Formats: sequence, C-alpha cells, structure tokens
Amino acid sequence: MCGIIGYSGHRPAVPLVLEGLRRLEYRGYDSSGLAYAQAGGLRVIRAPGKLGALEDRVASEPNLLATTGMGHTRWATHGLPVERNAHPHMDEGRTLALVHNGIIENFQEIRSELAAGGCRFQSDTDTEALACLIARERRSAPSLLEAFARALRRARGAYAVVMMAAEEPDTMYAARLSAPLLLGVGAGECFVASDIPAFLPYTREVVFLEDGEVARIHGSGWELLRLDDLAPLVRMPQHIAWDMQAAAKDGYKHFMLKEIMEQPRVVADCLSGRVAGGRVLLPELDNLPVPARLRVVACGTSYNAGLWARHLLEGQGGVPADVEIASEFRYRRPLLEPEECVLVISQSGETADTLAALRLARSRGCRVIGLCNVVGSSIAREADAVLYTQAGPEISVASTKAMCSQMALLVLLAIYYGQRRGLAGTESSALLDALHAVPVMLRENLPSLRETAARLARRFAGARSFFYLGRGPAYALAQEGALKLKELSYIHAEGYAAGEMKHGPIALVDPDFPSFVLALDDPFLPKVLSNIEQVQARQGKVIALMQRRPPGAPADAPVGALPSPEVDEPWYLPAAHPLTAAFLALPALQLFSYEMADYLGKDVDQPRNLAKSVTVE
Ligand code: G6P
Repeated sequence: MCGIIGYSGHRPAVPLVLEGLRRLEYRGYDSSGLAYAQAGGLRVIRAPGKLGALEDRVASEPNLLATTGMGHTRWATHGLPVERNAHPHMDEGRTLALVHNGIIENFQEIRSELAAGGCRFQSDTDTEALACLIARERRSAPSLLEAFARALRRARGAYAVVMMAAEEPDTMYAARLSAPLLLGVGAGECFVASDIPAFLPYTREVVFLEDGEVARIHGSGWELLRLDDLAPLVRMPQHIAWDMQAAAKDGYKHFMLKEIMEQPRVVADCLSGRVAGGRVLLPELDNLPVPARLRVVACGTSYNAGLWARHLLEGQGGVPADVEIASEFRYRRPLLEPEECVLVISQSGETADTLAALRLARSRGCRVIGLCNVVGSSIAREADAVLYTQAGPEISVASTKAMCSQMALLVLLAIYYGQRRGLAGTESSALLDALHAVPVMLRENLPSLRETAARLARRFAGARSFFYLGRGPAYALAQEGALKLKELSYIHAEGYAAGEMKHGPIALVDPDFPSFVLALDDPFLPKVLSNIEQVQARQGKVIALMQRRPPGAPADAPVGALPSPEVDEPWYLPAAHPLTAAFLALPALQLFSYEMADYLGKDVDQPRNLAKSVTVE
C-alpha cells in the first residue's frame, strides 16, 4: 500500500526523505509528497505520478535546511490519484500535516461532523478528515500529543500515521492500527517508516510499533506511549541483520530479475540448519501438536505457494490440508475446530486479509502458524509460531523469490509432519535429496532459462490471451504463471487445471490463443500430454515445459514410453526429480513474464494499479 518515511536528526531531512521514498516506492506510486518545517510554518510539496515528479518539484526549492521532515508515496484508496489527494494532508489552518497508510472506515462520519462545524475540505481523502479532526481537538486539548491521541481514539479501520505540526517543528508523532510502522534509532537521529529498507543505510536498530501505541519522535530520542491513556511504555530496539546490498539492484536492470536470480541462494538459506541426519528440524513448531487438519490461508502468490504444497502436506505430511484465499476465508464464517491449525502464508506479513484470517482463527481457539519473510511483521508477531523464509527483502512488486522460499519451507514442513507422525522414511529422504539438488540445478540452468524465455516472449508478444495449464501441484504453478503474465505485461491469462479445459474453456482456443502447459515428468504426465493433443487439435499453439529423459533411461520410464505429441514449442528442463523440476519450472514462468513485460516496455518493478503490500481490504 502506501509508504511512509519520517526523519528527525542532524542531517538535511528532505534529501533523506526522498531517498527513503525511493526505497518505499514499491508500496505505491500513484503520487508522492513531503513536509518539513520552514520559517515558523510547514512547507508541503506534492506531485501526482511517480516519485521523479516530486523530485523535480523539490529541486527548485531554495533553502532545504530543515532537519525534520516526512514523506509519503501513495497507492490510491479514497479519491483519484491526483495532486489534491496526495499526502501529506493539512488541516484548514495549515497548522499540521499528516501522512497515512490505510483506510479510516468511519471517515465519512468524521467528515460530515467537521463539515457541519464549518470545515472545508480540499481533497476526497479520509486522511484529510483525520488531520482536521486533530486540529479541532487541539483547540481544547492540553497538548498536541493529547489532540493526536483523542482523534485517533475515534478512528476505525486501519492506519499507520505520522504527523508534524508547526508548533513543535522538530517533533513527529506516529501511531498504528493494523498497518505497519516502525522506528529506526540512530545516534542523534530517529526515523519512522513503513518498512526497514527506507532507513537501512543509516541504522539497523529497529523498534516495532504495536497496534494501539503512539510514538513521539525527535532527533534526541523517542518515546512510546499507550494510545488509551498515554502511559509510557518501555521497549528495546531490535538489531536487524539485513544489509544494504540485499536491498539494492546489484547491477541488474530490474529488482525482479535480481530477485529471480537470487533463488539458488534463497533455497540454500532455507535449508541451512533445518536438516540434520535426514531429519527436518523446525524447532519453532516442536511445542505445537501435529494438527488434525491444516487450513492454509493466503493471498496472491503466497496462496499459489500454499496450493502447490497441498499435495505434499497431505501425501507426505499425512495432514489433511485445505487451501483458501484469505479474503474469502475471513468472511465465510468457517467452521474451525480447536485441534485444527491455520497456516497463514505472507511474504510481507502485513496483508490485511491474511492478518484478519489469522485473528479470526485465533478468536476461535485455533493455533496459527505464520510463514513470513519480513521479520517482526504483524503476522509474525501475532502467530503462535512463525517460520521465517529468510529470502531477504523483496522489492519488486511481483513476487518471485518469496514464492520459491515459501515452497522450500513448505516441503520441509510436510516432511517434518510426516516424520512426527512416523510415516515412511524413504520417500522423505528422496524429497530431501531433491530439495538439496535445487540450488545447484537452479544456478546451472537460470541463464539458459532466461535465453529461452526471451526468445519465446518475442515470438508470443502479439498474443492477447494465454492459457496456463497444469495438473496436480503443477496446476498451482500454472496459476502463478498466469498471475505473473497478467500483472507484468497486462496480457490476459488464465491458469486452469488442464483436465478442466474440456468443460468449456477449450472453446476459446484458436491459432491466436496460445497455451503454456506444464508437462513435467510426474505421474500426471500422460494425462497432460493428452490435453496438449486436444489443444493442438484445435490449432492452438502450445509452449510446453517438459523434461529431457536422461541418456540410457529404462524403456518403461514415463516420457520415453509415451508417444509425445509434436509440441510447437517444447521448452526442455533437465531430467530431475519432480520436486526439483517444480523449482526449475517456477523461474521459467517468472522469466517468461519478465522478458515479455520488458520487451513490451512495461514497468517491470512497478506494474500499474498494484502494490507490494496490500494493507487494505
Ligand atoms: C500483493 C502483491 C503480491 C502478493 C500478495 C500477497 O498483491 O502484489 O505479489 O503475492 O500481495 O502478499 P503477501 O505479502 O501476503 O505474501
């Protein structure tokens, strides 16, 4: 969603805020703005569009000497992405400025009340209503802090807010409810931001704000208080191990490409320390019972990772597993038994629907396991146990390495449950061997996968629609391939279970409607090959991800024994265990979409209308 950065210290604040916004732009990029104290008042500069537009406006400002300032990059929720709706928002008297990530659900009520009192609004946003409410409370409150707290106690919904006011030009006030916000603590300087990379070059000492807390921030220190009664709270900063290199492009043209290429390391890191003597070690879960049923709940790419893992969780882990989209699950009034466990998967750990699903499950007495990438995120903190994917910061809006790390950890989870249930050891050791082979196989094959992806992208760049087909776990990969293609290149794509094609969708197939088929060397292969025949019989063009047979393979080996159809574009992956092959198929799909989007001149790292972390419904 939106990104927030604030700074108070000894450095010029404006360049630092712009730099922080650059690192947060993945959270939204419809408009941006900043505020700083100047000549006894507040100066606010805003611009619609990408951050470059704001930078151009700031470049012509004289005397940017302020050492306290804050900025915002917006993903529109209330009101068009135009300048008057960009943050920061001010009250009518221009005494204070506010930046906000989230949605104030009762803002219409607040707005009507203020309007009845004569307040006139400049924007369509919920944020401006809140800024005006704080200003109104200030008339009767003994302090700015009290006015800030009084207004927030009325706000419903979700927010991370930071406020500056002319009367205290070196101080910022911050608070959160169901939206991320954290402090970065340096020597004689303090930051507040939506995410760690915003201030990572300056400090790795982080204080995570909790819901219902307020922070007062100034160059010489920070304080935490309870929103309810403004009682002081004590919390030590945590040290974050990420380094700046992990959050930079590292010579790649796009973050997405860099993150795809990082996947060998991501799988290796995921395995490191988690397997010993043929056993999977997940000490985070040792105190929890093996669940009678696992409800996997997630959104977007994280949902596809869960869908992919379902077969393993059931087949290998012996745990009945359902996989659901969080925004459906939370409103379905699901029947949950206390002995079931809800596994929420979220790269950011902040997705509003996934977080709500977690809270629903906990309110029903179910245990919740979080599978997250961002350390200290809301989901990580609220789950009963958390498995960290350790993939490092993922900046590209389209998720790639996070899914790879989720898949690796889910394989380990399935084996872990299987081992705790005393299920057969040989299959689990084959799976572990296959997983251990992934980093090297990926490293060796990523360059050629990219070449093939680039060639195919050029050949199919004129297509207006695509089917992505697969069966079994590969159906989830097909869903992910289709998601990547549409989000990056804006080409319509549908992921389908290959066996379902004949029940309607195949009517769409013609020479201009290609299909991308996952025909991996697994037990579903014979059926998938028939599905390819069915598509090609309707003159549909097919790209098929297939595996080469190893030289000298036995005659009864699956592919060699089958009459394979003449596929238009066979895309061969090396012979490998089906599990390893899935980890090769994933970057093939990602790279195809990447190359397609780049060839079509689309904004790869920041596709239109999207945001990395969706903290609203
Ligand atoms: C957004 C992102 C997707 C991501 C989804 C779930 O839509 O653009 O890339 O898969 O949110 O995010 P999460 O952080 O919960 O995995």
